[in-house]
Amino acid sequence: MKMRRVTCALVLILLFLLGALAALLPSGNEDLVRGIQRRISRYSSSPQDSFTLIMQTYNRTDLLLKMLNHYQAMPQLHRVVVVWNNVGQDPPQELWESLGPHPVPVIFKKQSVNLMRNRLQNLPEVETKAVLMMDDDTLISAHDISFAFSVWQLFPSQIVGFVPRKHVTSSSGIFSYGSFELQAPDTGRGDKYSMILIGAAFFHKDYLRLFQELPRSIHEMIDQTQNCDDIAMNFLVANHTGMSSGVLVKPIDMRNVEKDAESGYTGMWHRAEHLLQRSYCLNKLTGIYGKMPLVYSSVMISQFGFPNYANHKSKI
Ligand SMILES: *[C@@H]1O[C@H](CO)[C@@H](O)[C@H](O)[C@H]1NC(C)=O
Ligand SMILES: *[C@@H]1O[C@H](CO)[C@@H](O)[C@H](O)[C@H]1NC(C)=O
Repeated sequence: MKMRRVTCALVLILLFLLGALAALLPSGNEDLVRGIQRRISRYSSSPQDSFTLIMQTYNRTDLLLKMLNHYQAMPQLHRVVVVWNNVGQDPPQELWESLGPHPVPVIFKKQSVNLMRNRLQNLPEVETKAVLMMDDDTLISAHDISFAFSVWQLFPSQIVGFVPRKHVTSSSGIFSYGSFELQAPDTGRGDKYSMILIGAAFFHKDYLRLFQELPRSIHEMIDQTQNCDDIAMNFLVANHTGMSSGVLVKPIDMRNVEKDAESGYTGMWHRAEHLLQRSYCLNKLTGIYGKMPLVYSSVMISQFGFPNYANHKSKI
């Protein structure tokens, strides 16, 4: 252990000296500088203490490039895998490279069918235990992401993310899908959640494999609705762990940037049937599992030092 720390310190000092040396060299020596940058970035994001970003995209390449640029800034990011659902179109690999050099490698994975659950394939490119899954229209500050990653390291068997939802039980035993408020003023108690959406969340990469092993009826439900892959993922994790599937982290800065897209494709949550479909999926999944595995939680983790973002009433 001590040996390792000494070796690490030596490597860091060496890199520092090389960096200082490179700075003194005339500016023609970009190869050397880039080589050092690569070595530093590889050193600081080994697969154990870093994560892979998986982002699925369809029809909004301008937004995608903005997002890729934004998330490059995160030191623990090991690699980015873009699940390219624009079937028959080439990914903007060359354009992206031409905007470089970028510290974190981006791999574009061309898909042969445009399926919602493409992003949940057990991708061999994921070498880290932690997966960060992000929708291509959601921007979260690098600061919030780093904090959530440290929370995930404490709860690696759960989905750690920023967007909570819940199931609501009716007396007839039918479930409906509900959003979330930080306080329920009528009862004077806080609200609770039973799902964390995977469009902005960390989870263990083993869940990608377990997702592939789910009964076919679940995959068919997702393909038929082109929806609900995140609900299915919460059922999987809750059934697997016997605990609440998710842990909510309160973000300081999270934005939906869909309106910034120039390519005009708007996400499916604007469709009227979206919420109905989600209630349908809740009941369908409960039937397939033979029980309701989702468990309520009222845990919300927020970063110390931002008092104005604490537990006041607001919709998220
Ligand atoms: C996706 O983009 C293509 C070409 O730009 C367009 O023809 C198609 O209608 C778009 N699809 C959606 C769902 O917006
Ligand atoms: C739920 O968990 C149980 C116990 O681990 C397992 O036997 C069952 O197959 C799981 N259900 C589904 C639908 O995966």
